[in-house]
Amino acid sequence: MSATALDGDQPTTSDTLLSAMDLRKSFGHTTALDRAGITVARGEIVAIMGPSGSGKSTLLHCLAGLVTPDSGTVLFEGQDLADLSDRARSALRRGEFGFIFQFGQLVPELSCVENVALPLRLAGTRRRVAEARAREWLARLEVEQIADKRPGDVSGGQGQRVAVARALVTAPKVVFADEPTGALDSFSGEQVMRLLVDTAKQTGASLVLVTHEARVAAYSDREVVVRDGRTRQRAEVS
Ligand SMILES: Nc1ncnc2c1ncn2[C@@H]1O[C@H](COP(=O)(O)OP(=O)(O)O)[C@@H](O)[C@H]1O
Ligand SMILES: [Mg+2]
Repeated sequence: MSATALDGDQPTTSDTLLSAMDLRKSFGHTTALDRAGITVARGEIVAIMGPSGSGKSTLLHCLAGLVTPDSGTVLFEGQDLADLSDRARSALRRGEFGFIFQFGQLVPELSCVENVALPLRLAGTRRRVAEARAREWLARLEVEQIADKRPGDVSGGQGQRVAVARALVTAPKVVFADEPTGALDSFSGEQVMRLLVDTAKQTGASLVLVTHEARVAAYSDREVVVRDGRTRQRAEVS
């Protein structure tokens, strides 16, 4: 028996990086997730779609180990996140995961290059090496010219490119992005999305992308729709 069928989802294979089964999560009387499940293969780009309040962010946070579900299982490389200590889970997030949120959440007191270098610095990389690598990433995201500016002095689109660089600089196995272009105009949103998808593909990172824009889902390999806390898989997008 090599493959186990998940609840309404794709079968688990050796190519599976991350999977969640039967997730339930309530906040007081609000049910955010109701038997949700998802599978993410290595290098795959999965779009999580659905109306506002349907449970997309909660699902993402459970997958990333930021929120503990009331029941159900999240496996990363076969390892149950619930079996890890808080410390081990933090180490996993720092080492293997990258995060991008709607508003970049850059550190305002640091320059853009220092922001991108920060995850490397926290992992013990020397300043000079970390900042050199951060500058390379800013160049890949076509924003090397703002490297020494503070986040408050750059545009929204530039700030999100910095956030993408910061998410990818540690070579994570998976990047979690929660409406990363939701606060941008459609032109800069499109550019950020293309750069995010291209760089994720180039590095082989999986990308779990929450969005309510159908246009954005066109960049994904597969779509998962969340409605009232339940997940539904859509046929492969070509
Ligand atoms: N920390 C929280 N406290 C209370 N309710 C929450 C919290 N997070 C999410 N919810 C509720 O859970 C439901 C799903 O939220 P969320 O996952 O943020 O949806 P989405 O990202 O699809 O908009 C919503 O009804 C929301 O109000
Ligand atoms: Mg949300």
